Amino acid sequence: MAEKYDFDEIIDRRGTDSVKWDLAQDPEVLPMWVADMDFRTAPEITEALINKVSGGLFGYGSIPENFYESIIGWWRDVHHFTVRREWILAGPGMIPTLSAIVRTFLKPGESMIIQPPVYNHFFTVIENCGMHLVKNNLIFENGDYKIDFEDLETKAADPGTKLLLLCNPHNPVGKAWQKKELEKIAEICSRHEVMVVSDEIHADLVLKGHQHHPFVGAAEGYALRHITCGSPCKTFNLASLPIAYSISPDLQVLERIRKTLEMQETAYPNPLAAEALIAAYTNGRAWLEELKDYLAGNFEYLQQFCTEYLPEVLVIPLQATYLVWLDCSALNEDSAGLTKILLDEEKLWLNPGTMYGESGEGFIRINIACPRELLSWGLSRLRNYRNRKVAAGS
Ligand SMILES: Cc1ncc(COP(=O)(O)O)c(C=O)c1O
Repeated sequence: MAEKYDFDEIIDRRGTDSVKWDLAQDPEVLPMWVADMDFRTAPEITEALINKVSGGLFGYGSIPENFYESIIGWWRDVHHFTVRREWILAGPGMIPTLSAIVRTFLKPGESMIIQPPVYNHFFTVIENCGMHLVKNNLIFENGDYKIDFEDLETKAADPGTKLLLLCNPHNPVGKAWQKKELEKIAEICSRHEVMVVSDEIHADLVLKGHQHHPFVGAAEGYALRHITCGSPCKTFNLASLPIAYSISPDLQVLERIRKTLEMQETAYPNPLAAEALIAAYTNGRAWLEELKDYLAGNFEYLQQFCTEYLPEVLVIPLQATYLVWLDCSALNEDSAGLTKILLDEEKLWLNPGTMYGESGEGFIRINIACPRELLSWGLSRLRNYRNRKVAAGS
């Protein structure tokens, strides 16, 4: 079928108040770091926003019923999971939602588990909420990642441990966790009365051949407090219209989060963000399917490029997200040093693996959600570094 959307268009984002493009002063810098795509959002969303804005009505807004209906429809059609209307609580962006959840259920100083290398703001949420960080590092074996269940068991068994913050799918290692893995987490956490909060902001970006399993589904049948958090913001590139929602069959849990959001004065999502969510979940499916094909093409391109020109770089398989995790330890063991050299000398801005915990040492993260031509420029800059390094014999 012919493509309807143009993901090849190179959009000049400089001067658009973009964190990704305007933070670097040097116009030569190619940013491939923050999780923000160089594509316009789905035109169906832009159209809905134009309609809303053109009415000029910006008085206090309420969340319409189709906000909930669109979430229910999306989870049914895309993730084959039935969410009930009363299980949904609207909230601000993902990070403020996670932070509100942590503050609701934990007292400062209590322990919560994360699974590094993991999204850097998980560390800041823990720190900002005054919690104690417990690491259940993922195991890196034969070029792939898996959960260390033995270690999770030990850490969950500590009576001070109250919560596991799960990244499902996992940023930055690109894993779409299997249902049996999630069930095992549910089983361990239910035995030790550890609550599970599953950040599923990348749920829709599971590439073909893989499947997203919502934690709320995997946890069915376990006596466990759990919350699954969703958002259209990564999927549709809507970071500047932050919105997220919590899903839990435990209505008391939702009520307690609602109270915290109210206390923080963050209980009412921005109506434009809510409008974007409704449009995305009602009319965005065709765009998403094409986006995923394009991303899969970009990943294939990257793999071929690495095989041909960057043989020292190990590409970690990408099941989900548009963030590729590269083991560059054979080129440079110091990932922060490597990303600094790439920025200073090659004008390529990537994330060092250590941003996601010390177990990310030796790795870098590259964002491939851009037109293929930009990806090719970025990879060529990485190749220039590699060739100079090899030529210097070090
Ligand atoms: C796992 C994860 N959670 C949350 C976020 C950020 O969400 P928000 O911008 O809605 O706060 C990101 C952004 O990359 C992410 O990767």
